Amino acid sequence: MVKTLLKELKEFKLPSILTPLCMIGEVIAEMIIPILMAKIVDDGINGQDMGLIFQTGGMMIVIALFGLIAGLGGAYFGSKASAGFARNLRKAMFDNIQTFSFSNIDKFSTSGLVTRLTTDVTNIQNAYMMLLRMAMRAPSSMIVAMVMSFIISPRLASIYLIAVIFLGIIIIFVMQKATKYFKEVFEKYDKLNESVQENVSAIRVVKAYVREDYENDKFKKAALNIYNMFVKAEMNVVYMSPIMTGTVYACILLISWIGAHMIVGGSLTTGALMSLLTYCMNILMSLMMLAMIFVMITMASASGKRIAEVIEEKTDITNGSNPIKEVKDGSISFEHVNFAYNKTSEEPVLKDINITINSGETIGIIGGTGSAKSSLVNLISRLYDVTAGSVKVGGVDVKEYDLETLRDQVSVVLQKNVLFSGTILDNLRWGDKNATEEECKRACEMACADEFISRMPLGYNTQIEQGGANVSGGQRQRLCIARALLKKPKILILDDSTSAVDTATDAKIRKAFAEEIPGTTKLIIAQRISSVQNCDRIIVMDDGKIDGFGTHDELIKSNDIYREVYESQTGAAGDADFDQASNA
Ligand SMILES: Nc1ncnc2c1ncn2[C@@H]1O[C@H](COP(=O)(O)OP(=O)(O)O)[C@@H](O)[C@H]1O
Ligand SMILES: [Mg+2]
Repeated sequence: MVKTLLKELKEFKLPSILTPLCMIGEVIAEMIIPILMAKIVDDGINGQDMGLIFQTGGMMIVIALFGLIAGLGGAYFGSKASAGFARNLRKAMFDNIQTFSFSNIDKFSTSGLVTRLTTDVTNIQNAYMMLLRMAMRAPSSMIVAMVMSFIISPRLASIYLIAVIFLGIIIIFVMQKATKYFKEVFEKYDKLNESVQENVSAIRVVKAYVREDYENDKFKKAALNIYNMFVKAEMNVVYMSPIMTGTVYACILLISWIGAHMIVGGSLTTGALMSLLTYCMNILMSLMMLAMIFVMITMASASGKRIAEVIEEKTDITNGSNPIKEVKDGSISFEHVNFAYNKTSEEPVLKDINITINSGETIGIIGGTGSAKSSLVNLISRLYDVTAGSVKVGGVDVKEYDLETLRDQVSVVLQKNVLFSGTILDNLRWGDKNATEEECKRACEMACADEFISRMPLGYNTQIEQGGANVSGGQRQRLCIARALLKKPKILILDDSTSAVDTATDAKIRKAFAEEIPGTTKLIIAQRISSVQNCDRIIVMDDGKIDGFGTHDELIKSNDIYREVYESQTGAAGDADFDQASNA
């Protein structure tokens, strides 16, 4: 994990080194000032030497300026290194997420990825900044101050040596307990983000089902959980502050008391006592800093682990060694294909599938929900890889193709489809980024989308909202079909893509396909028999197996499931859909 994260830091090596150097400069300046102060008090004021006071005062200003510049440099380089580190981490994660296959995506939740990209990176950024600026500063300031104090007065210095040891033990004890809670907080953040993400992206559904109260409750619980965790963690830390302050004041009192006696006795000067008091504060403050660094690092290491997980995740679908860059034709064959989403699960989703589809054929696929229709077609463009057996396109195993080539030639309109924010043209050009407006219009005509687009005031320049919220379900489906057509694929797969389109338009789209793109192999998943009835052949899926494969007429004769559904949809039940029929 450390190695993965450090790689993203390489670019910022220089500021990462400069920051602690600047901080050391600041410490040195800070340490010299008390000595000069003592000189002014002892030799200047007590010795009534105005010249010395001015001279030393001038030196103090110079050193203070030096300290200021060093401090500024530390802040500047520190921000640069930590903000740059954060940027690189985000970029590395985002880049890797883009390579994820569907099964990689299944592994992380969307909200989990969002937390990792935001909160977790911010944690690392803050901790790194702190580490750069304080990790050198605090210990060096502590050591220098300690040494200086021992030089001035070993007897008084030993007082805070004892205080430091005492506080050190308390800090270690308290922090160990607190970090445990801090770590848990991050897992709760995932839950909170999940609740927010789900609710906000589906706010319309929440409203339609009047689930606002339920969602509010869910959010409240997630937020309360985090609150409780933080309070618990802070409750552990809360004793720290009074103990710290108490110890600091006890030290100051003791030093003043003993110091006063020593001054009266003549073994210590007033100036030396003043410097000692400054050093004392310095040491205890540094100790406090160290404690904070310790907490931040434990917090950050939890975040670091979560970030490294995303960066290190290897996509399981990659190009072969000699990827083929051309798809010969649109023929498809499945040979003894088994498929399971989870490699360790026992029951595969698809069981021993064997089919051959000729190039240019139109194939209907029908079957109840969960019968693995989507799973079957997702294997063709390698959105998932088969568990056993092979899927061939144009006579070649899909694993041997260059992924981009394959996916350009196998165009899928996914069941859960989305549009992106941007104009209609922008969205269409996902299919082909160089498509002219004319070509886009052609594709939309085929998908029966042109009729409603041209009725919009801005036509093809109409802005689509995020997720396609401002078009109806049927309109969105037609736009998605047009987008897929623009790829001019050899194989076109429609996964229940006309479910929200009325029957007449549905028929019109199919007619356009038959006339305009006869050479393209078309796979049409549908719930309505009428949508597939005219296909060259129809696959009937049942529970991950192929129950029947043939023309409408053949299936009516030979396939029980198909006949039942057909009768229920054309008979008295009218428009009963597939599931109702097969349950009947
Ligand atoms: N991403 C996934 N991870 C795990 N299981 C899945 C996933 N997608 C679908 N399944 C399971 O695979 C089976 C077939 O689903 P699917 O192919 O979507 O059916 P259909 O498209 O016919 O409705 C179902 O039992 C479903 O629960
Ligand atoms: Mg499906």
